[in-house]
Amino acid sequence: MIQPFPFTEEPDADARERGRILMTGQVEFLKGAVEMSHLPPADRVEICFAGRSNVGKSSLINALTGRRNLARASNTPGRTQEINYFTAGESHYLVDLPGYGFAEAPKPIVEKWQRLLKAYLAGRPTLRRVFVLIDCRHGIKSVDEEILTLLDRSAVTFQTVLTKADKVKASDREAIFAQVRAALQKHPAAFPEIILTSSEKGEGIETLRAVIAELG
Ligand code: GTP
Ligand code: MG
Repeated sequence: MIQPFPFTEEPDADARERGRILMTGQVEFLKGAVEMSHLPPADRVEICFAGRSNVGKSSLINALTGRRNLARASNTPGRTQEINYFTAGESHYLVDLPGYGFAEAPKPIVEKWQRLLKAYLAGRPTLRRVFVLIDCRHGIKSVDEEILTLLDRSAVTFQTVLTKADKVKASDREAIFAQVRAALQKHPAAFPEIILTSSEKGEGIETLRAVIAELG
């Protein structure tokens, strides 16, 4: 049987170079939006990073862009509270989203972020792909399922990016991969490949850069 949701193949030298130029070149913070009406004009390819609080969204943006502190990353779950826009060259917006599934901030505040997050994921016409980050120690949880179902309904393609590969022994990874692949089979909006990354060690970073550049 063919394995469903294989890992994205490593890019060839040209694709790697296109990814490097886009993602480590002219990348700048543009703005943080707290309402849909504050989003910049929908005038270019947009990709975003979604996932549970603390899964490593901001760290991944830092690793992809080769910048230590472009997107803030922290030990405090719920750190990113706005929809943060970055420009990559003149062709792409990279978007760092607030995490979901974090309940320790005051409830009305959490609810406000979550409403904004859902409105954004369901209603941004130029959103080409959502990278949904899944901690490779934990796999897909019910809070993730809620977001994946929203993306199915909105017909927004998402690609699963497993994070923190450095935290899991190779021998323990297969069970998580199997859980993730089985869960993804229920989601029509799932892009048919997954990517394993470590922002800490650099694993998968060139591959993801190349994937983003190909979406140009
Ligand atoms: P919120 O903004 O709160 O939703 O979190 P986030 O998803 O942006 O996570 P963030 O990038 O802030 O990372 C959370 C914690 O995980 C930080 O302590 C990071 O240093 C750590 N972390 C992120 N990626 C990796 C990784 O690849 N390996 C290891 N070992 N730690 C990581
Ligand atoms: Mg963050």
